This record gives sequence, C-alpha cells and structure tokens, in this order.
Amino acid sequence: MSLTFTPLTPVFGARVTGVDMSEPMTDAVFAEIRAAFDEYVILILSGPVMNDERQVEFSKRFGPLEGTRGVNPASGTPFARQSNLDIESGDVIPADDRRMFYQKANMMWHADSTFKATPSLCSVLTARIVPPEGGATELASTRAAYETLSDSEKAEFEDLVIEHDFAYSRGLVGFTFTPKELETMGPVRHNLVRTNKGNGRKSVMIGVHAKSVVGWSYEKGRALLEDLLERATRPENTYRHEWREGDVMIWDNQSAVHRATEFDTAQHQRLMQRTTISAGTPIVPVL
Ligand SMILES: [Fe+2]
Repeated sequence: MSLTFTPLTPVFGARVTGVDMSEPMTDAVFAEIRAAFDEYVILILSGPVMNDERQVEFSKRFGPLEGTRGVNPASGTPFARQSNLDIESGDVIPADDRRMFYQKANMMWHADSTFKATPSLCSVLTARIVPPEGGATELASTRAAYETLSDSEKAEFEDLVIEHDFAYSRGLVGFTFTPKELETMGPVRHNLVRTNKGNGRKSVMIGVHAKSVVGWSYEKGRALLEDLLERATRPENTYRHEWREGDVMIWDNQSAVHRATEFDTAQHQRLMQRTTISAGTPIVPVL
C-alpha cells in the first residue's frame, strides 16, 4: 500500500489517500503520516468511520493522550465530545443548555489545550455523525503567520512568554465556571515561538486562550496577539473543511488555530470525537 499526499492549499494541509483508518496501521504507514504531519500541519483522511478503540490506538502513536476534564460530557475519558446529542440518551440538547453554550466558545479561533501546563502536540477529530449542512471547521496556519514577520520581529519575539488562561477565554463569551471547576484551572505560561522538532519550522502558539505577554503591558501584549492572529487568519493562510462521515482530521495545535462554525442544532445531529495528544514527550517517532 502506498500513501498519497495531496496539498489542500499552497500554504498548508494535505489530503491523505491509500490507507484505511478503520483498520490497524503498520509502523511504516504511521511513519509516513507522522512525517507528513510535520510538513503539512493538517492532514485529512476519509473512509469508513473510525471507532473509539481505533481512534485511541491511532492517536497514541503520536504521544500520550490527554484526559478530558471539566465541563465536556466525555470528561474522564480520552475523548472530548463535540456534539448536540446527549451522551446518555442520544437526544438533541436544547440550544439554551449550558453544554451548548460551552461549545459556542469553540467558534473563536483557538488551539486546543494551550491553557494546560503541558500544551498539546495535536488533535485527532473524527466525524461520526455530520449534519447535511453547516458545522464546517476552519483552520489557519500560525506557521504562515510567523513567516510573515520581519527578521527583526522574529528576533524580538523569539523569547516571549505568553500567559494562557481558560477562565479568561471562556469569559469572553460570558461563560462562567463554578468554584469547583475553577479549582483545576489557572493561568499557564508557554513560549510564543514553537519549533517543530522534525523539520525546524517555526510557528506561534496563539488563539483565544492566549491572554497576555509576560513582562509587557496588557495593551501592548493584546495588540501583538491580535496582530499575529490577523496574520494567521488571512484568507491565503486558511482552510475550511466541510465534513463527511468517516473523515479524520489531524492538526498541529502549535502551528495552527481552528474554529467551529454554525449548524442548525435543533434540526440536525452532529457527533465528533476528539482525542488530544500531549506534547509532553519526544515528537519524533521511534520505530
Ligand atoms: Fe478545538
């Protein structure tokens, strides 16, 4: 079996063909996918729907999985569930339910888990039930954003540290946590500039959880973070994916931001399962 990688845009992303994601994968095939992930930032595969067991098995090849915590209905499992369907009953969740309000925040540009002490390498999102229209995911390249900077800006920003704060970002949409939920969260700090260990390409880790630049005034830090996001989300640096059932998307949380888009949550069903891989281990695969 040989894999084919077809670029999605001139800037980033590739569609991968030649592998059945619903079947176990050989080490050789994974090594090709892993190398392509470093190069393309986003990979998309299509085919028969991947079940939970296969998704966990595939995701673990990238590194250790994060546990899901907090408000997500799949809390306590390796999955972050993105759905308008109740996890127990399967019924549609009313639009004014706290769980749907919580998911609304996913419509802001973000990278997953930047608010955690150990950030994420990548996420794997699989489409289990897809609405007939709407519910696309948009992605933007923060590697491309970095590359738009001048040499002097790159030098100035090289050692900047960013504070990321989940309570801050959810607060932007008016979502408040209970005191118990707040116990497990607090601001964390990460280097702004990230270097891909496989190819040395640099990017900026930004998005809605990025609150401030350590050592800078709040206003100056906000201006930089907003400028970097504007560079990333220029049309030429973005890709919009209209999902089909069975699609699998892998994205680099340090080289891209993404956001969800609207669908009719009262009329249609949508179920996506996300696994999130921690960056807390070597990111070059050992075969
Ligand atoms: Fe996300």
